Amino acid sequence: MAMELKNHQPPRRLAARLRVAKNERHDIENSQDLSLLIEALYLKLLEDQLLAPFFGNKLYIFQRLPTLAAYWERILWGTGWYRRHTMNIHRELAKREPFKQEHFDRWLEHFSTTVDELFVGETADKIKVSAIRIAGHMHKGFGV
Ligand code: HEM
Repeated sequence: MAMELKNHQPPRRLAARLRVAKNERHDIENSQDLSLLIEALYLKLLEDQLLAPFFGNKLYIFQRLPTLAAYWERILWGTGWYRRHTMNIHRELAKREPFKQEHFDRWLEHFSTTVDELFVGETADKIKVSAIRIAGHMHKGFGV
């Protein structure tokens, strides 16, 4: 795993899951679908030089991915264990490294592209709209 992260390659099992999802696109239906979406998204986010200052330790971020999937489960279906205050977490991050329009735009671009590559349907549309809405709240709340 450490080796795979170092070379920025998707772990082999993930690569296979991504291939299947791309070939047989369906809607986001369950927490496994969300996990796949988040893993694919973070492969992009962690490679992006514009966003690199925010995502320092890649191994640490990879450990956070189940939390991110749980977050989206709560947003979409109101289920799962996620209860944290995401806005405050990002507000704290923004004190170290200001969140600018270009950062939100890039984050959202990766989010939408990843959803569209892997999924199609009502929930896939809904999650993209939710991401735009939440990013908008963040931008208004503490963006510069
Ligand atoms: C400029 C855009 C963004 C950047 C640079 C960014 C960066 C980060 C970073 C570095 C973390 C890890 C924090 C940590 O665990 O120490 C994080 C966590 C997280 N981000 Fe973002 N983020 C952005 C936008 C968003 C948006 C728009 C959403 C939701 C729609 C979101 C949802 C989350 C969630 C759920 C977590 C996990 C929080 C937790 O630990 O409970 N992020 N983000």
